[in-house]
Amino acid sequence: MTWSARGFPYQEHEARRKVDQIGSVVMVGSGKGGVGKSFVASGLALSLAGMARRTGVLDVDIHGASLPSYLRVRPPLRTGRRGIEPKRSGGVKVMSVALFTGQNPVPMRGDAKESLITQLVALTDWGPLDYLVVDLPPSMGDELLSAFRLFGGKSRFLLVTTPSPNALSVVARLRRLIASERIPLEGVVLNMAYASERRGRSYPFGVADASSVRKMLRADVIAELPLEPAVNSESLVEVLRKSKETSTAFKALADRVVRGP
Ligand SMILES: Nc1ncnc2c1ncn2[C@@H]1O[C@H](COP(=O)(O)OP(=O)(O)OP(=O)(O)O)[C@@H](O)[C@H]1O
Ligand SMILES: [Mg+2]
Repeated sequence: MTWSARGFPYQEHEARRKVDQIGSVVMVGSGKGGVGKSFVASGLALSLAGMARRTGVLDVDIHGASLPSYLRVRPPLRTGRRGIEPKRSGGVKVMSVALFTGQNPVPMRGDAKESLITQLVALTDWGPLDYLVVDLPPSMGDELLSAFRLFGGKSRFLLVTTPSPNALSVVARLRRLIASERIPLEGVVLNMAYASERRGRSYPFGVADASSVRKMLRADVIAELPLEPAVNSESLVEVLRKSKETSTAFKALADRVVRGP
């Protein structure tokens, strides 16, 4: 399949119109791969919807889309009168390139990526939303820069990390970029921070605790999420229904996003 950047000015206009109908955008990123960005983006979106907020989640991870598997949505998509209908999961409107491509690889670079992300925003019938949660891929490449450009003015950033020093040093670089772009930082989510309810006694992946993370990233740790083995076998809707510890942590995170510090 080839992708074209043609039609960009029209898509851009349409994307702006869609963004105007969103109350607030929460970008979920890290810089580092595999720390749980998609887990956090999905869980936050479901918890916001659980608080009766009109919520969408947009996957801008073109090559490694994993939102559809957390939220158990898959192709085909349908087109209605006002555009492509997003999938729904637990009350959340979901859009991802993987809903077009399924399990096929999506090789792509540069302008084509920017165009694709713009189109995902522009052609989707989001309707009015209180929150759009954006799941970012690792790195500081096209996807992140496209998201900054499209949503920068009305967005906040949620940094996800594990307590591992290796993750933290990468996340610290993204933290500097967010500051230089003047995007408000909502806070840090420490994922896989502890192994069980014996919280505080067990940091399985590294040495950093919430207070050292706060110092290193110059930002508040606003949620600590446990290791949750069920995420690999069940939908996140099910995980949140069954696991009190994880759902309580996500509810507190959603509450913080809605009400502020
Ligand atoms: N709290 C958790 N407990 C147990 N496993 C987790 C947790 N969070 C994430 N995982 C697992 O870690 C892996 C990476 O998670 P996820 O895909 O959410 O990370 P990511 O940062 O979005 O990755 P990528 O950089 O590829 O986008 C997945 O296999 C996921 O199931
Ligand atoms: Mg991801």
